[in-house]
Amino acid sequence: MTDMQTRQSASVARCSSAQERKWLSGIPWETLLRRFAILVPCIGLFAACRTTGPAGAPSRAQLRPTVFPGVVPEPVSITLASGDAFVLTDSTSIVVDPGNAEVLRTAQLLASLLRPSTGFAVPISSIGTSVRGAIVLRLSTDTALGPEGYRLAVWRDSVRVTANAPAGLFHGVQTLRQLLPPQIESHMALSAVAWRVSPVTIMDRPRYSWRGAMLDVARHFFTVREVKQYVDLLALYKMNVLHLHLADDQGWRIEIKSRPKLTAAGSVTQVGGGPGGYYTQDEYAEIVRYAQERYVTIVPEIDMPGHTNAALIGYPEISCSVRPPAPYTGTEVGFSTFCANKEETYALVDDVVREIAALTPGRYFHMGGDENPILSKEDYARFVERTQDIVARHGKQMVGWEEIARARLRPTTIAQAWATDSVAAAAVQYGAKVILSPAKRTYLDMKYNQTTELGLTWAAVIEVRDAYDWDPATYMKGVTESNIVGVEAPIWSETVRNITAVQYLAMPRLPALAEVAWAPQSARNWDAFSRRLATHAPRWNFLGVNYYRSPQIPW
Ligand code: ACM
Repeated sequence: MTDMQTRQSASVARCSSAQERKWLSGIPWETLLRRFAILVPCIGLFAACRTTGPAGAPSRAQLRPTVFPGVVPEPVSITLASGDAFVLTDSTSIVVDPGNAEVLRTAQLLASLLRPSTGFAVPISSIGTSVRGAIVLRLSTDTALGPEGYRLAVWRDSVRVTANAPAGLFHGVQTLRQLLPPQIESHMALSAVAWRVSPVTIMDRPRYSWRGAMLDVARHFFTVREVKQYVDLLALYKMNVLHLHLADDQGWRIEIKSRPKLTAAGSVTQVGGGPGGYYTQDEYAEIVRYAQERYVTIVPEIDMPGHTNAALIGYPEISCSVRPPAPYTGTEVGFSTFCANKEETYALVDDVVREIAALTPGRYFHMGGDENPILSKEDYARFVERTQDIVARHGKQMVGWEEIARARLRPTTIAQAWATDSVAAAAVQYGAKVILSPAKRTYLDMKYNQTTELGLTWAAVIEVRDAYDWDPATYMKGVTESNIVGVEAPIWSETVRNITAVQYLAMPRLPALAEVAWAPQSARNWDAFSRRLATHAPRWNFLGVNYYRSPQIPW
């Protein structure tokens, strides 16, 4: 049995057993999740009172042997200093070079984090004014930091974040955020908190340039607001790619003006038969802009030539038959395909790639390419190679799931390993790079254990330690460190209907994978990570982020 067939038959089984479950029919589970979402900030407030209140026993966090600061991902180097802490007060300001619009925007984002919880004005002022008591964000030539690294120095009198490029300053600010008490995430002013940051110096830069997550907005649709909430989580953990799976059998989710039937006919369904939906081009641009401001690159995926039932409803002439297929709301895979031998197919692909490329400032276009047992080997390769040319003509670098390595690849193409530990190695023979998304480690839609209510099990059950404890450089045959651009954690949405459910599956495996992708292998250690991660739960409570309380983590 091939991997594809295994997945296909597993997904058939998944579907029938899943449909018996209450959450797929909706109400009780969703209601519960919504209630939980409302409750968590309140729990956060309760935690705040416990840790800051004048009376009562110390909390577990206070008693735990110190592993602070609990920064995730672990920085390259971190040196705790002695002396008094820096304290945010009503005279704290953020000092920047106002001539750089990106730095100014990062300062504004920092100010908008600090103002609600502290109640302080936190003005932004220009370099040249006094830095006493200030948080200074400054670019300075320091090539050791690369395009995303930063230095952070906290002293009693000031905090300084320096970087070679604006992205580094943004990441440095996320570290500062994690060094502040978790109550900093509160949307309400908490006047009893001492906003202290202990003295420390940090030098940090990422291991990989691709630290991604994928959200399947095709099987279930997610609103612009929900996608932004996911971007917020990625940014907190210094992840820098959000791959949006925008089209699959169950739904087409992005407006293509030259091909209106893609959304008119293809966007109105989703798994289980819900209303579906799609992003207008303006809405997609809004997601791209929001992500860009947080140094997250949106990578749009149109999965083809397979996984194309939704597209074929409106454009049956590019299938190998002429009858339009019926809308599909199940969870099987491997039954639909574009026809590789028709010029009409490439005309549609060209329209789609052209419009999406024009809306996407990031360098990449993901063509899917997975799970197509219908086309012959030759037809599949022809489709991938012609699509690769179209993507290049529209100025983008092509990414595809590992199966694309069965075609002749350009060295600029990137293959995303998922199912096997060998297919992506063929891509390396062409000089192509590889993203590691091994399903057994990184698929966030896999259950944590057999009793997890959401998620699937066809690849594995993945506890937090399974997601954390592996080294990309030694994971795959024929793929070594220099072939790897990074690591990505997909969430497929067969069982996932809203962002609260996404958060439950992502947290805390997403920060675990963020550390796999960011921290040097030599700095990674499960025990230390699990203790650092535990300190993040109060932060998630204030943020209203749902999460799984893994028994592996000393919360
Ligand atoms: C995949 O999981 N079919 C890439």
